[in-house]
Amino acid sequence: MKKTKIVAIVGSLRKDSFNRQLALAAQAVIGERADFELLDYGDVPLFNEDLEYPAPAAVRRVREKIKAADGVWFFTPEYNHFFTGVLKNLLDWLSRPVSASEPRVVIGKPAAISGATPGMNGTAIAQDHLVTLISFLNMKVMNAPRLVIPHVMQQLNETGKLELTVSAPYLEKQADAFLDFIQNS
Ligand SMILES: Cc1cc2nc3c(=O)[nH]c(=O)nc-3n(C[C@H](O)[C@H](O)[C@H](O)COP(=O)(O)O)c2cc1C
Repeated sequence: MKKTKIVAIVGSLRKDSFNRQLALAAQAVIGERADFELLDYGDVPLFNEDLEYPAPAAVRRVREKIKAADGVWFFTPEYNHFFTGVLKNLLDWLSRPVSASEPRVVIGKPAAISGATPGMNGTAIAQDHLVTLISFLNMKVMNAPRLVIPHVMQQLNETGKLELTVSAPYLEKQADAFLDFIQNS
């Protein structure tokens, strides 16, 4: 049987991003049960209809990655009670048909959502906005469980790196649920 492929999209381009570290923790939890790749999209240009056809190389690359994925797992920070601009920009590109005969690549893709923040709402508001957008794009959203991690500073080790304690079992539950969700999609 073909191995499940999960692509992780981190809504932060910051090198030490907590959400990036959370994605890496999810990758470790998934282990050998699926191929798990963090999408590299820092070079995707700002969306501009003048650039759409032919699509820039970076856009073609990320589209191919999403096309090949069995599931997409978002790890997003919250910026001003919303998900981030870089993530919106990426989703705008992914929302467009590839060509007259090839539709947008996200249609029907199973999606999971997690997020971490130093603040107290754990990215819940940003996640709700993201659900609205990716549902509109006809992705198949796993609404429960979602993972929210508030006060992320309380789950760092002595070197300042993310080391989940209270949230670890919730990440494990979400990973198990997402693998089932993909299997049953
Ligand atoms: C422009 C901006 C807006 C922010 N707005 C929020 C917010 O609405 N809620 C929140 O919990 N944190 C907010 N933060 C703090 C981020 O959660 C924090 O910087 C977080 O570490 C970013 O995620 P990352 O570590 O994955 O890059 C904001 C940060 C920035 C730069």
